[in-house]
Amino acid sequence: MKQTGRRTFLRLIAGAAVSGSVLDGFFRKSGSQQLGPASAQNADKLKLGLISDLNGSYGSTNYSNSVQRGVSLLMQQQPDLVLCAGDMVAGQKRSLTNSQLKAMWAGFEHSVRAPLQKAGIPLLPAIGNHDGSSQQHQGRWIYGRERQQADLFWGQHRGDLQSGFIENERFPFQYAWRRPGLFVVVVDASSANVDSSQRQWIESALSSPYRQPDDLCLVMGHLPLTAFSEGRARAGECITNSQGLAIVLRRARVDLVISGHHHAWYPSESMGLRLLSLGAMGSGPRRIIGSGVISPPSLTLLEWSRPSGLISETTIDLNSMQPITADRLPVQVDVAGFAQARRRSLQWQRGSLI
Ligand SMILES: [Fe+2]
Repeated sequence: MKQTGRRTFLRLIAGAAVSGSVLDGFFRKSGSQQLGPASAQNADKLKLGLISDLNGSYGSTNYSNSVQRGVSLLMQQQPDLVLCAGDMVAGQKRSLTNSQLKAMWAGFEHSVRAPLQKAGIPLLPAIGNHDGSSQQHQGRWIYGRERQQADLFWGQHRGDLQSGFIENERFPFQYAWRRPGLFVVVVDASSANVDSSQRQWIESALSSPYRQPDDLCLVMGHLPLTAFSEGRARAGECITNSQGLAIVLRRARVDLVISGHHHAWYPSESMGLRLLSLGAMGSGPRRIIGSGVISPPSLTLLEWSRPSGLISETTIDLNSMQPITADRLPVQVDVAGFAQARRRSLQWQRGSLI
């Protein structure tokens, strides 16, 4: 995003004028509409849609109005790629039958994935606890059928992502994916347990010879490394032993760690890493810890210009369809037993250390 566009954005959010045309105006003036699949060959610019937590109530096969508005916005904005940090369907209930699970994924295909794919916008998934939790009991998956159905669904669509796979043996649960200018490692953080073998795999994936020194390097998983929202600051809601994993990610110079699950948009720095907790696209807004801020349904657009190395994030409230300013977020989120997270800038330089 150019500085002029940024200034326009700040003026817009500071002003009282609120109308449907404001968002259009912001993206038009920032030049964002020029990016997208048409620029797929242009590795100098990249625009990503970042979404998470779409699911409705258990077994639901359709999606809330905010999800539908979000998909429409993505179609309009034409990012090169959408990354989804999990909870695409409404599982994690053992009484759901296989046909119900299949119907939920068919609903996701109909409402979200297929429209984006038809518009030339591939979707990279991370598996959430409602998609196929990795929670185990006595060495066995508690939600094994859900993981099987998630595997079947994404197996049918892996061809749409084929050109970018670096490592896909355990797709969609953990994999590495690349396109010019971008290197993505997706981890199975569908429960708090990211075990030692996966940590070794993450370390190895991040040191892949296919990763280029100037790639924007993103790591995405459903559960976050630390707590952001009320009701989620407890065991099972964040990755266990996150400090150890943070060391691995920091050493590998990961640019951004993206998570969902906490239903709270909070761009932060923590443990020497740059984090992005995504708001829920669907229902279940949550209050950010230590503040009065309830995070509305939202999605985030990330734009990166390789020549300047500048990354710019814009998060849209899917109720008002307005960009959300970070100024209203608490300066820090600090809760006993979890790493402190400090609010960070939405514009940053790739490769800059925290
Ligand atoms: Fe979740």
